[in-house]
Amino acid sequence: MAEKFDVKLEEGKYYLPDASYKERSWIGDYNRAYQEFLADPDGFWDRIARDLEWFQPWDRVKEWNYPYAKWFTNAKLNITHNCLDRHVNNQRRNKVAIMWRGETEGEEEVYTYRQLLQAVSQFANGLKSLGVGKGDRVCIYMPVVPEQIIAMLACARIGAVHTVVFGGFGVSALNQRIVGTDAKVVVTADFTYRRGKAIPLKNIVGEAVVNAPSVERIVVLRRDQEKPVELHPEMEVDFYELMEESDRECPAEVMDAEDPLFILYTSGTTGFPKGIVHTCGGYMVGTYYTTKYVFDIKDNDVYWCTADPGWITGHSYGVYGPLLNGATCLITEVTPDYPTNGTYWDIIQDYGVTIFYTAPTAIRMFMRVGEEWPNRYNLSSLRILGSVGEPLNPEAFEWFYHVIGKARCPVVDTWWQTETGMHMVTTMIGEPMRPGFAGKPIPGVVADVVDRNGNPVPPGTGGFLVVKEPWPSMMRTVWNDDERYRKYWYTIPGCYTTSDLAVKGTDGYIMILGRSDDLIVVAGHNIGTAEVESALVSHDAVAEAAVIGKPDPLKGNIIKAFVILKNGRVPGDKLKNDLVYHVRMTLGPIAMPSEIEFVDSLPKTRSGKIMRRVLKAQELGMDPGDISTLEE
Ligand code: WTA
Repeated sequence: MAEKFDVKLEEGKYYLPDASYKERSWIGDYNRAYQEFLADPDGFWDRIARDLEWFQPWDRVKEWNYPYAKWFTNAKLNITHNCLDRHVNNQRRNKVAIMWRGETEGEEEVYTYRQLLQAVSQFANGLKSLGVGKGDRVCIYMPVVPEQIIAMLACARIGAVHTVVFGGFGVSALNQRIVGTDAKVVVTADFTYRRGKAIPLKNIVGEAVVNAPSVERIVVLRRDQEKPVELHPEMEVDFYELMEESDRECPAEVMDAEDPLFILYTSGTTGFPKGIVHTCGGYMVGTYYTTKYVFDIKDNDVYWCTADPGWITGHSYGVYGPLLNGATCLITEVTPDYPTNGTYWDIIQDYGVTIFYTAPTAIRMFMRVGEEWPNRYNLSSLRILGSVGEPLNPEAFEWFYHVIGKARCPVVDTWWQTETGMHMVTTMIGEPMRPGFAGKPIPGVVADVVDRNGNPVPPGTGGFLVVKEPWPSMMRTVWNDDERYRKYWYTIPGCYTTSDLAVKGTDGYIMILGRSDDLIVVAGHNIGTAEVESALVSHDAVAEAAVIGKPDPLKGNIIKAFVILKNGRVPGDKLKNDLVYHVRMTLGPIAMPSEIEFVDSLPKTRSGKIMRRVLKAQELGMDPGDISTLEE
């Protein structure tokens, strides 16, 4: 791992935003803020936590027992009190909290903070009436509609632990998550609408709850009111009927800072995805802080994070972070290219979006369709741009900065993970931006690029990106699998391993190079090779399969599968299509292989592990590196 990377370390290009950004920013001077944090880490987090309302203060800011952290010990709180009641009681009662836009022209909904609190309380009471209580798990499998956020917050209101499953996941992925968390209730909708098509979510739930004995009830949001889907009288209840039968007031459950808030599954390198567990107190402080300081959010901002709450970005920066800050948030079910390639720009113009947070894949798609699309709209409301999910390559940075931000808006390229809960590395507002580099650790975070032994590598040398000190919104464990949690902290001595490779410039800026493990980041979504392989092998024609990520100019990576067929099965295009369809139905469209190649054998180690690295090198015509462990 001592490779030299072709990074122009010295002659870097920087863009400096107008001085007014720094002058008016919450962070002020980055270096000073970082030094203040280093001088007194606990004091730093203590000050931030005091912005929020607690039912009972903490004894200690943190208790660090490697690799286990407790933050804000013995403090009592409820995150929804801070997302909702705090604003309703303090001047933001009638401020718009959520604006939703649907796919069809004119389809929109608006909730003020008062209305949102009422809806959340009512739904929370509804969940209670179904027997859901503190600590119970509730699975939320919904489209991006206000009710999805209402369901999440309602769980948090009563101390139930939500597991949101992205609406693009298929039957078996959903079933695994329901079974994995022993969810008592599943909240879903009849349909999600995507590019003019109705996708029947409830039907998928119907299949996914087979062999999921924990599920007692299914709550269904019926969006199609002309032909309402039929509900099973014992098992299924209507979302709004449940709400309407319930009281409008629901006191916020008193939660301990370390009580779990949610479980969110993320792909692992082997086997079953990992249920990342986040807790109430630390997660609240971490997402509140980063939303405020990284996006420099102010009371009159119109904030739009394009991520679905089915992902961590949607949790932290679509729901909790902005609501903790009392922001006006836009959410939408639309896709960027439907009905036209101008949909996103139309939304920004129409709502006057000031902060726009999206993904490199989307940016590259916009680049491809051309700047004539954004140029048709007035984007002058924009103030700050953000990117997340995969490296923002210099070309995409330049385009985003010039074409969308008109060389005026700072671009924050935020590096973080489901496990970290909050932003970790970025370029804080007002600091010089360097295309291709995410930036530096934010104040509050100690991160570095190191070798296998945890020693920092010199600038220009590739290494492992690690975090060296605990932070409030770090995951606390992997659900039902603490061993996997420990692995994060026991792979590189003294460090939390991110599994990302990175390189640092002499200026301290960090460039993220990609994953060092068997995760493939496809259009910003992590997909485990093992998940796709086991989906393929579950097809009755397949004997064995290996999957690699293949670089792609648009999506970052695409999935390529190498498949060995069972004796007697005939390779061909028909079978390829069947296999792709099979993966789509089991895991969902995001995990579909773009290429399938039928092979007679796969490169393996003597112990029988597939060497994906060798397949990838072959595919890309590169040197496979050390192959001494190869079987033959
Ligand atoms: C990648 C998403 C480069 C990285 C928040 C990480 C990034 C994984 C960036 C986590 C970025 C995320 N630049 N790579 N700004 N942000 N990644 O858990 O490989 O879905 O480890 O969290 O996405 O993905 P996850």
